[in-house]
Formats: sequence, C-alpha cells, structure tokens
Amino acid sequence: MTAFAWDPVQYNRFGDERGRPFDDLLARVTPAGDPHLVVDLGCGPGQLTASLLSRWPASSVIGVDSSAEMIVAAEQVRAGLPDAHARRWHLAQADLRDWAPPRPVDVLISNATLQWVPGHLDLLAGWVACLAPGGWLAVQVPGNHEAPSHAILRELRHSSRWAPLVGPDVAPGLDRRMAVAEPAAYLAALAAAGCTTDVWETTYLHVLPGEDAVLEWVRGTGARPTLAALPEASRAEFEAEYGARLREAYPRREFGTVLPFRRIFVVARRP
Ligand SMILES: C[S@@+](CC[C@H](N)C(=O)[O-])C[C@H]1O[C@@H](n2cnc3c(N)ncnc32)[C@H](O)[C@@H]1O
Repeated sequence: MTAFAWDPVQYNRFGDERGRPFDDLLARVTPAGDPHLVVDLGCGPGQLTASLLSRWPASSVIGVDSSAEMIVAAEQVRAGLPDAHARRWHLAQADLRDWAPPRPVDVLISNATLQWVPGHLDLLAGWVACLAPGGWLAVQVPGNHEAPSHAILRELRHSSRWAPLVGPDVAPGLDRRMAVAEPAAYLAALAAAGCTTDVWETTYLHVLPGEDAVLEWVRGTGARPTLAALPEASRAEFEAEYGARLREAYPRREFGTVLPFRRIFVVARRP
C-alpha cells in the first residue's frame, strides 16, 4: 500500500492524457458479450472505472484501491451516476495484493497502478487463476522509469542537499529500475500461466498546456511520495529546483510542452 496521500484533483488535471491509454488497452479486450464481473485494481478516482459501466451495460464492476482519498473521489463519481449504473458498481478500499474477488472474474483490469507494486510480476499467475474460463486480464504500466522526469527526481532525492530531508525508502519501487518489467517479461509470465497474450508498447507525445507543465503532471503521480516526505517548509524550494531542471529537459514551445510518455500494454486471455 502506498504510504502517502493521493490528491484526486491534482491527478485528474490531465484526465484526457491519462485516460487515453485506458481506452487503448480496452480496445484489445473483446469479450463476446457483456462480461458478468469486471474488476479494476487500483481504480483511482473512478472516472475510468465508471466508463466500464457504459462500455458493458450488463456487467457488475468492482473498483479496488488502497487510497482512502481515491475511494472517496470514486464514491463521489458513483453518486453522480444514474441508478442503473451506480448499483452495478462496488468499491473496496484494499491493497490489491491481499484482495480476492468474490467469484470468478471475466475481465480484470489494472491501469497505471502496478508501477507502485514492486514484484507484481509474481501476482499475475494468481490473477489468471481468478479468471473465469475465457476471461481477460488487461494491464497497462508506464515504461518511462528512465525518462528525465524520473531520473532528475531520483538524482535530487539522493543528493546531499535533499536526501537527509526526504529520508530513505519513501517509494522503494520507484527507486528500483525494475519496478516495471520489460514487455517481454509480462508476455513470458502470462504465456507460462497458459494464456494467449497480446503485449505492446507506445510512446505518447503529450502536449501539455501552461507553465511548469511537467512539474504539474508529476505532482499528481510520480513525485507525490517525495513531496509528501519532505518537511512542508522545504517543499517549495525542492519544487523550484526540480521545476527548473524539468523546464530544461522539457522546454516549453509555442504550442505547449511535449512530454514523451512510454507505456506498456499487456492483454492476456485465459483458455
Ligand atoms: C496512477 S493511479 C491510477 C488510477 C486509475 N487506474 C487510472 O488509470 O487513472 C494509481 C492508483 O493505484 C493505487 N494503488 C497503488 N498501490 C496500490 C495497492 N497496493 N493496492 C491498491 N491500490 C493501489 C493508488 O492508490 C492510485 O489510486
């Protein structure tokens, strides 16, 4: 479970860009009819989970997330839905590593979440075992661990200036190169679990508006553990230094700031 608070409002600031890979992932999940049970592990603030209710109008959907803030945000999204949708959607606050579905799952999704769960390759076979025959597993993870946004953050937090203030191990998974595996490793793990697999990667070139656009982006996700670990009095100074480095790495152009973002997609089907 992540040990820092998520901010659903900040996370949703780039809702379009964050939603696109979810749609691209699900375009390759093609059950014959509406699945009985769909599970979204690490559902976050819920807008994408809610879209599953329209995609499959006869399905029950369970969203699971370890963050109290994200579950509250998702509850609010659910409260705004028509009854026919809201009653098909259940939410659970739980660590996805411990949570077990109440019955076999027809589509199990985890979008932009497993980068927070070191060692998650070992979970995949267990998830396949939870699928109904013919069930689908769909996972998307960012593959941008070596991008300047992350490399600069790592460099700063391990620097003599900031390391004593950030403290050790605020996000151990993010410091390890292999927090996210390469596409071939997901394919091998799922093929070994008996699935037919469809694995690919894409680099999106997001064009972000506004000043300090990349800093705004990472404030909602990858930089959260570091920012949360810093004493409040030092946060602005850290952000100023990090922001200046980000502006160099991702210069603002007349049409916006380009953030190249590699993502890895994994779709598997149980026989
Ligand atoms: C980047 S957000 C993605 C949210 C949503 N799936 C989306 O695509 O917008 C990652 C989410 O994973 C959740 N998360 C991280 N580790 C988790 C864990 N071990 N168990 C359950 N949820 C987890 C976080 O609370 C957060 O809501």
